[in-house]
Amino acid sequence: MIENLLPPQVAAVEATCDRMDVVLFPEEEAQIAGAVDKRRREFTTARWCARRAMGQLGLPAVPVLPGTRGAPRWQPSVVGSITHCAGYRAAALARTSDVAAIGIDAEPNQPLPEGVLESIGLPRERAWVRELQRTTPQVAWDRLLFSMKESVYKAWYPLRKRPLEFEDALITVDPRQGTFQARLLLGPAERRDGDPLGFEGRWSAVNGVALSAIAVPALVPAAPAAAWARAGAPHRELVGSAR
Ligand SMILES: CC(C)(COP(=O)(O)OP(=O)(O)OC[C@H]1O[C@@H](n2cnc3c(N)ncnc32)[C@H](O)[C@@H]1OP(=O)(O)O)[C@@H](O)C(=O)NCCC(=O)NCCS
Repeated sequence: MIENLLPPQVAAVEATCDRMDVVLFPEEEAQIAGAVDKRRREFTTARWCARRAMGQLGLPAVPVLPGTRGAPRWQPSVVGSITHCAGYRAAALARTSDVAAIGIDAEPNQPLPEGVLESIGLPRERAWVRELQRTTPQVAWDRLLFSMKESVYKAWYPLRKRPLEFEDALITVDPRQGTFQARLLLGPAERRDGDPLGFEGRWSAVNGVALSAIAVPALVPAAPAAAWARAGAPHRELVGSAR
């Protein structure tokens, strides 16, 4: 499922059952020593996904440890993202020569608990969630909105090393095309040179899993946007006004 949401430059691997046959690296083992079974399972299977993705990129398998604020630390020249929820784990990796940042997030395709939408959704987002819940009830749009914001955070944080609040991103969704846009609403005092104005991504809701994914193309002069577009990638950094 996840590979359909990402450009071909990204190696994406998912698992719907746990891979407890994986032997973790000692550093990874130390990281989860004492963790509860649920955490051990998701951590281990996500590492299995990440190693397979490394293999697809022609890279050796190395440990994936949490870095600052939990962001995964990848080997040099690699960016990536990890997600896990009940019954689903995935990792997506790419070379920094192709991709500047990745954010993926999986959630159960079930409505958020009462009151959560109000705390994570801006008024304009709550309006489209309500409308789409009426017209397309098979998708848990409130949960998908949450997932999109988590993907935004996972793409943003490793790029900029600063937190981002739920109200800092305004999400709009195209329910037919399976795409979404995130416009960052940072004010002049919060915005710094080089901050992206937003992100574009893709979403799906199949087999009980609501998925969202963002891949930001690397801004390499030798690989202009046309080359990226030829490769079939619909994702690009937003340019233009932030509001
Ligand atoms: C960090 C966070 C995004 C993780 O999302 P989640 O839905 O709880 O959990 P998931 O299973 O999908 O993802 C967990 C993985 O995210 C990754 N992750 C954790 N912190 C991260 C960070 N700061 N940056 C990037 N990735 C991070 C890790 O790889 C982790 O897996 P691991 O611990 O096995 O390595 C979430 O817990 C969080 O803090 N959200 C609040 C911030 C936010 O979303 N703001 C909204 C901005 S619009």
